[in-house]
Amino acid sequence: MNIVVTGGAGFIGSNFIFHMLKTHKDYRIICFDKLTYAGNLSTLSKVMENPQFAFIRGDICDRKAVDELFQKEHPDIIVNFAAESHVDRSIEQPDIFLQTNVMGTVVLMDACRKYGITRYHQVSTDEVYGDLPLDRPDMLFTEQTPLHTSSPYSASKASADLMVMAYHRTYGLPVSISRCSNNYGPYHFPEKLIPLMIVNALHDKPLPVYGEGLNVRDWLYVEDHCKAIDMILHGQCNGEVYNIGGHNEMKNIDIVKLICKHLGKSEDLITYVTDRKGHDLRYAIDPSKITRDLGWCPETKFEDGIKKTIQWYLEHQEWWRDIISGEYQNYYKKMYENR
Ligand code: NAD
Ligand code: TYD
Repeated sequence: MNIVVTGGAGFIGSNFIFHMLKTHKDYRIICFDKLTYAGNLSTLSKVMENPQFAFIRGDICDRKAVDELFQKEHPDIIVNFAAESHVDRSIEQPDIFLQTNVMGTVVLMDACRKYGITRYHQVSTDEVYGDLPLDRPDMLFTEQTPLHTSSPYSASKASADLMVMAYHRTYGLPVSISRCSNNYGPYHFPEKLIPLMIVNALHDKPLPVYGEGLNVRDWLYVEDHCKAIDMILHGQCNGEVYNIGGHNEMKNIDIVKLICKHLGKSEDLITYVTDRKGHDLRYAIDPSKITRDLGWCPETKFEDGIKKTIQWYLEHQEWWRDIISGEYQNYYKKMYENR
């Protein structure tokens, strides 16, 4: 079995590659990644010598490069993680989100039609459903919830999902889609909430909480997400959409306080800053379909996962110090100075 993992040098894609190499010893895994600011070859260094693994640098929007990938590697399955993934960046510069997230998906699926595959899997997000009110804990996103996006990021992901279902219905392409809640764990780029707060706290820098910190996200340990995708690839899931979530809703402020506590840092570092434009209030997933159909359940409790994650950042400082020493400094200044 040859599996192409696009975006495998990023956070979730790399964790997925590690999971697949560990659990399917007879599969060949090919990572296809453009190495944007979010992609890091150092993340994949521990598997580079593995004969089951290959890395190819390329852009999912580049038809010629994608054609060459299919001709060389003859993939059976494509798992598409490649994306622009940060909401704040999408508010600053929406066009690259449309290009990568929508056009890139179309280019990949065109190659799937041309060369034939057994499954195209789209890694999507719960953000395609928009947000839920803070005062209605009974309301959860199901696969039937209408797409109702807020940010350029979520609009681009929803557009891609619609194209995936269009290719399934129109051309009979074998597809599946997973819509997951917020992930956390090792190799998470420090522009996102949890790693940003860990890294800032370790430097005794202000911890910038948007608005009042009352927005709610449903956090899932990244390995649980990877296991769910593995199950979807191996199940009778052609044409199906699956929600994946941790049943673990938390307010942003509570997460930041927990990080302070674990690192022995003062909550005085917390600084309330201007809210994100159009900030989604609450995400919450009903994952009962994937539990019923495939037997998937989240395994890592948040209190364990967050401890493991913080420990990982403490033990892998060279990984994130390398990232924050470069272009990241300009990004941080632009987004947070005078906010
Ligand atoms: P990430 O930003 O950490 O990684 C994205 C990867 O894609 C990087 O390695 C980057 O180099 C690569 N990439 C970007 N543009 C590319 C292109 N044109 N061609 C090839 N490679 C390209 O993202 P992530 O957090 O790992 O998210 C992966 C996927 O999961 C995304 O599709 C995202 O929408 C989805 N998702 C993320 C979360 C989350 O909490 N992080 C939750 C649900 C869904
Ligand atoms: P983020 O990690 O960007 O994920 P998403 O927006 O896709 O859910 O943000 C998670 C939550 O944390 C979101 O409500 C915005 C908030 N947030 C902050 O309060 N401060 C920050 O510096 C960042 C990056 C996020």
